[in-house]
Formats: sequence, structure tokens, C-alpha cells
Amino acid sequence: MNYRHAFHAGNFADCVKHALLVALLRAMARKPAPFFVLDTHAGTGHYDLTADAARRTNEAANGIFRLLDDTPAALADYLGVVRGLGLYPGSPEIVRDLLRPGDGLACCELHPEDHAPLKQLFRGDAQVAVHRRDGWEAVKALLPPKQKRGLILIDPPYEDPNEFAHAAAGLTLAHRRFPTGVFAVWYPVKHRAPVRAFFDALPMRDIVAYELLLREPLDAARLNGCGVLIVNPPYRFETEARPILDSLLARLGTGEPGAAVSIARIADE
Ligand SMILES: C[S@@+](CC[C@H](N)C(=O)[O-])C[C@H]1O[C@@H](n2cnc3c(N)ncnc32)[C@H](O)[C@@H]1O
Repeated sequence: MNYRHAFHAGNFADCVKHALLVALLRAMARKPAPFFVLDTHAGTGHYDLTADAARRTNEAANGIFRLLDDTPAALADYLGVVRGLGLYPGSPEIVRDLLRPGDGLACCELHPEDHAPLKQLFRGDAQVAVHRRDGWEAVKALLPPKQKRGLILIDPPYEDPNEFAHAAAGLTLAHRRFPTGVFAVWYPVKHRAPVRAFFDALPMRDIVAYELLLREPLDAARLNGCGVLIVNPPYRFETEARPILDSLLARLGTGEPGAAVSIARIADE
């Protein structure tokens, strides 16, 4: 396990993932019944962008730091959450911020150095459980949730060459255990072939892929874009996601050929 999210916190990919995550949580909260969130690959929960790791890569300079001045309307909700929590919140902290009384969050983080601060962040918080366990295993144990409604965020590091295959298998298993859950899987777009193979491996219905490309995905050595694949997206989520992604591209894009937003239905309802 070499991947450490502290080197990447607040980069363009985090902005895409977290802006859509905030919109998904708002959609979940539209119904009064309590919901559960499982964050299978949680990270530390909060990242200090002035710390050595973040400064060394400076990835946030092309991410969150481009968004903070002159906030576009479509990003106001996401950026309000980020400002409230401080630079830069990870997915567990964002989720926790938007839980209502009665909702619950379970986070899995396998790396001991990331698990310890995450555990500390939520010490004494009865609505949050922090596990040092394999996120792929956890879907078997923690799903379906007692709340009956849930969002499962799957955000692996993709450092293993087979991670897309793991993601397809993990998502399939998780969906089998909890077919009515909303599943959001972040994925990198380096080149097209592995992403297509990932989509082709999914057996379930009602899948939409939300993507932001910074450039044509031709150079497999670069993170040319990223996506969030959503199974069972909330009603009319496309309409909400489009302006979010368009605003992100307007701020984070560098005008390279092939830069685009795409919302593609992968499997019918
Ligand atoms: C991309 S980062 C997560 C970022 C976080 N979701 C966020 O948005 O703030 C992926 C995390 O997964 C952890 N990890 C790697 N393999 C894991 C596994 N099998 N189970 C749980 N966590 C794992 C890594 O240590 C890393 O912290």
C-alpha cells in the first residue's frame, strides 16, 4: 500500500468527486427516512494543504485553489462545505457534515497511518464508525444497512493494475447485497480501454457515468480525467450534475484538445 491521499488532496479529481458527493448527499436528504453511508476507502478524513506532502506535489493549485475565488453558483454548495470544514476535507468529513440525526456513516481505511487520524477525527461520535479493514471485504459485512437507504462511496487508489477488476467485482457484490442502494465509484481516466472494460463487466441496471476530461485520454501515463460511476442515481441527478461538471471544467480545464464533460448512461433503468 504505497498510495497516500495526502499527496493528492484537493486536486481536480477530488473536486469532481466531492462536488458530486455533496449533491448526492443533498439528494439523499430530500426524503425524511434516515440513510446510511459506507465509505469503503476513506483516507484520513482531513488534509492539511500547508503540510509537506501537499506542498510537494502542489496538486491543489490546479484543483480547489482555482475554485475558491469567485464561486460559480453550481459549486456554491460544495465550496460552502469545504470552506466550513477548512482546507481540505476528505470524503468522511464531508459526509459527516451533511448527516442528519438518525443517519449513519461507516468508514473503512486499511493503512494504519491514515486509519489513526480518521479514528481520532470521529472519536466519541455515535453516528460514525471507523474500521481498519479492507473496504472490499466490508461490503459483505456492512450491507445491507439497517436504515434500508444508503449511499456507498467506493474510492480505491487504483495503484494495483487489477483495481478496475476489483472495483467491478466489489461493486457487483455490494449491489447484490443491497440492490436498492446508491453506489458511487470514482475512477481515473488515463486511457479509454480500461474504463470501457470496467463498464462492460458490470451486470446491474441503472448506471450513469459522470466524467470530466481535462484532455483527450491518449497518454496512459497521465491522469487525463476522472469519473464517478453511479448505480441507481437519484431522480433527475443528471440535471443537477451537469452544471456542477460544466462549472468545474470551466475553472479547472486548461483549454487542451478533448477537454469535455460527459454524462453517459451505461445501463438502462
Ligand atoms: C483515494 S484515497 C481515499 C480518499 C477519500 N475517499 C476522500 O475522498 O477523501 C484511497 C484510500 O484507500 C486506502 N486503501 C487502499 N486499499 C484499501 C482497502 N483494500 N480497503 C480500505 N482502504 C484501502 C488508502 O490507504 C487510501 O487512503
